[in-house]
Amino acid sequence: MAISEHIRELMSGSSWIRKMFEAGARLKAEHGADKVYDFSLGNPNLAPPERFPQTIRAILDEQVPAKHSYMQNAGYLETRKAVAKTASAEQAVSIGENNIIMTTGAGGAMNIALKAILNPGDTVLVPSPFFMEYRFYADNHGAELVPVPSAAGFEPDITALAAAVDKRTAAVIINSPNNPTGAVYSENAIAELGTMLEKKSRETGRSIYLISDEPYRHIVFDGLTVPPVMKHYRNTIVATSYSKDLSIPGERIGWAAVHPEADGGDELAAGMILANRILGYVNAPALMQRAAARLQGEWVDAEIYRKKRDLLCDGLEKAGYELTRPAGTFYLFLPAPGGDDEAFVEKLQKQLILAVPGRGFGAPGYIRLSFCVADEVINGAMPGFEAALDA
Ligand SMILES: Cc1ncc(COP(=O)(O)O)c(C=O)c1O
Repeated sequence: MAISEHIRELMSGSSWIRKMFEAGARLKAEHGADKVYDFSLGNPNLAPPERFPQTIRAILDEQVPAKHSYMQNAGYLETRKAVAKTASAEQAVSIGENNIIMTTGAGGAMNIALKAILNPGDTVLVPSPFFMEYRFYADNHGAELVPVPSAAGFEPDITALAAAVDKRTAAVIINSPNNPTGAVYSENAIAELGTMLEKKSRETGRSIYLISDEPYRHIVFDGLTVPPVMKHYRNTIVATSYSKDLSIPGERIGWAAVHPEADGGDELAAGMILANRILGYVNAPALMQRAAARLQGEWVDAEIYRKKRDLLCDGLEKAGYELTRPAGTFYLFLPAPGGDDEAFVEKLQKQLILAVPGRGFGAPGYIRLSFCVADEVINGAMPGFEAALDA
C-alpha cells in the first residue's frame, strides 16, 4: 500500500469535497471556466492594496545584509514589534514582541499552537458550523475535534460548550468573523466564554486554552468592529494572517500571539517557536515579514465586499431565498431550499453554479456561497439561482 491507512481514512472522510471539485472541474471543462459561476472558494478576488506591491518593490531594491537568509524561528524583531503594537490595540491588552510568532498563514499559526498544547487523546472543542480544516489540524497533533452546535444567530452556545468540557479538553477554537457563517461574535458572548473557561479550568485542574482564529477581523460591514478576545480570557492564543485582509493568501504570512498573562506563557511561546521550526515551516517567509512590518493597518477595502454581499443577497431575496446577511467575511451561509444541502448543490450545478454543502462545515441543511467573486459572476448567476429554486 503506497499511502498510510490514516491518510487514506482522512481522504475518504472528505470524499464529498473531491466529488464537488470534480463536478466543478467537469463543468468548467465542458462549458468553459467563464460560463461556470464559482461561489465555492474562499480565494479573495480583490487585488492587494497598491502599497503592497510598492513595498515589496522597495524592499527588493534595498541593500540589506542576509535579506533572504534564515532568521530567528519566531521571525524578525522589527516585524514582531510592529505586529505586537497592532495586536495590543486589537486585543485591548499589552502584548510584547516576545509573545508574537510570525507564521506561514493562519493555518501555520493554528498548527504551532495546537502542537504546543495537545497531548495524544486530548479534545479540542469548536462551535459548529466550523472551518473544515480544524478537524485535520487537531488530528495532526493526536487530538480529536469535538464540534458543539452554535446558538441562534450562530453565536457560540456557552452552556453547550461548558457541558462538553471534560478532563480531556485542551482547547476551544473560536473563529469570528466566522467561516462559513459570516457571524461576528458579540463581546458579551466572548466575555461569557472567558468566564466559563476560567471556571472549567479550575474544575478540571487544567488550563484550557482559547485559540481565536481571526483572519477575517478586518472584513466586517455596517460599522461593526470585532471585539477583543484576550481582554476577556488570559489563556488565549490569537492566530491570524494577511491572507484575506491584504488579499495575499498565496504568500503564506500570518502570526500567532500568546496572551502576556497566559498560564506558562513563556514556555508556551517557546514551544510554539520550536513547533514552527520542527513542523518544517522553519520561519515565515522573509520578504513577507519585512513587508508586514511596514504594512500594519493596511488592508483591502471591506466596503467592496459589503457591496458584493448586498448585490448577492438582494438578488437572492428577490428570487425568493431566505437568508440572513453576514456581518463579516465574504461568505453567505443560507438554509438550502428543500432542506437537503447536497441535493440543492446538485440543482445549482445544473445551472452551472458551484456552492459548498453545509455538511462540510458540520451543518447539513445549509449551503455556503463565497462572494469574493467579480460582480459579473453574481449578476450572471442570478437566473440560475432563480431556476434552481423553481426546479
Ligand atoms: C477560518 C479560517 N481559518 C484559517 C484559514 C487559513 O488561512 P491561511 O490561508 O492564512 O492559512 C482560513 C482560510 O480560508 C479560514 O477561512
